[in-house]
Amino acid sequence: MRKRLCRRLSLALSVAILLSFYKSVQELPQVILPYPLQKRIGVSKTPASVIVLIWWYPFGKKTNIRDCDTLYNIGGCRLTANRQFYPVSQAVIIHDRDLAGNVSQLPAVRRPSFQRWVWMNFESPTHTSGLEKLNGVFNWTMSYKRDSDIFMPYGYLYPKKTEGRRVVLPAKSKLIAWVISNWNEDHARVKYYHQLSQYVHIDVYGKYHQSLQNSSVVLTVSSYKFYLAFENSQHVDYITEKLWRNALMSSTVPIVLGPSRANYEQYIPPGSFIHVNDFSTPKKLAEHLLFLDKNGSRYQKYFDWKRRYSVHLANFWEEPYCKVCQAVKSAKADCKTISNLASWFQ
Ligand SMILES: *[C@@H]1O[C@H](CO)[C@@H](O)[C@H](O)[C@H]1NC(C)=O
Ligand SMILES: *[C@@H]1O[C@H](CO)[C@@H](O)[C@H](O)[C@H]1NC(C)=O
Ligand SMILES: *[C@@H]1O[C@H](CO)[C@@H](O)[C@H](O)[C@H]1NC(C)=O
Ligand SMILES: *[C@@H]1O[C@H](CO)[C@@H](O)[C@H](O)[C@H]1NC(C)=O
Repeated sequence: MRKRLCRRLSLALSVAILLSFYKSVQELPQVILPYPLQKRIGVSKTPASVIVLIWWYPFGKKTNIRDCDTLYNIGGCRLTANRQFYPVSQAVIIHDRDLAGNVSQLPAVRRPSFQRWVWMNFESPTHTSGLEKLNGVFNWTMSYKRDSDIFMPYGYLYPKKTEGRRVVLPAKSKLIAWVISNWNEDHARVKYYHQLSQYVHIDVYGKYHQSLQNSSVVLTVSSYKFYLAFENSQHVDYITEKLWRNALMSSTVPIVLGPSRANYEQYIPPGSFIHVNDFSTPKKLAEHLLFLDKNGSRYQKYFDWKRRYSVHLANFWEEPYCKVCQAVKSAKADCKTISNLASWFQ
């Protein structure tokens, strides 16, 4: 990634100019911009100093956008999907999946000097393609990868205000659950499941299996002792809601298959989960699970973290949008271009 100082307008100066321009933008004749009008989706209580344009609603699904002030205490943001605001937007968020490597769908109008194009992607490298065409196009990256310009994990633990004395778990009558809809025999997770299920019974839920109780993952999984938090592909930092929501929010012990144990330990305490690589064979893992099933005090130890932490599950899509606004607010006037998007991400 190349960094250089912006030789053009400083950001502060741009903002001042912007604000006056912004006042009149609503009166702009539509013809000067070749984009269809869309409704404004976020209204901030405080006067907006940062305008963030959402180029597409992710996956073409229109969603309600509340304001960043109310949600995250980030004031002065205006989130909009109205492309008329393009010339005055400090950031334009482009969702990789909707772009799908088709550069002719990028904004066709010249990029203002103060504006950052943000590449937003939450899929893993296995399910992302066409990035070579995007080298040198974007100014910032936003993804689950820690070294993104805007780091946006699927979840995290945050400290409780006061440490709890003991952890009360939901009643657990069953052993192992797995929720999977994208069933693929080539995936490492399906191969591992086949092996593990030779030694222990696993209840499988999802599209081709049992249906969830009250359509709720958390409700269903809560009555199990263990959950298979298996990622669809294995990549550094690619730790999704399978861990945060399906397992941890359901107060069950995650059995993870994803990046390395060391990588998981950057997110959650070492004693809070079981990694498939902790055992030389699926049979040995099964034996450990059956041991824990009998040993309540040892099992309970996996939940020590709950005395000190709560789980935050990412709020898609308001949270990433507001993070972009915050990043603009704290950014310096540096210019940056992501010249190696493909090799950095893949
Ligand atoms: C790329 O996007 C343009 C503009 O929306 C569209 O006309 C074209 O068919 C797309 N190309 C592909 C290969 O999808
Ligand atoms: C499940 O849904 C039914 C019907 O909506 C409701 O009566 C019941 O309380 C729900 N169960 C739980 C455990 O939330
Ligand atoms: C449970 O496990 C602990 C720690 O491994 C061990 O000290 C204890 O004896 C076990 N209790 C039973 C009933 O097996
Ligand atoms: C954004 O990237 C473009 C394309 O490389 C570059 O010309 C522009 O200076 C960058 N702008 C900022 C604010 O970083």
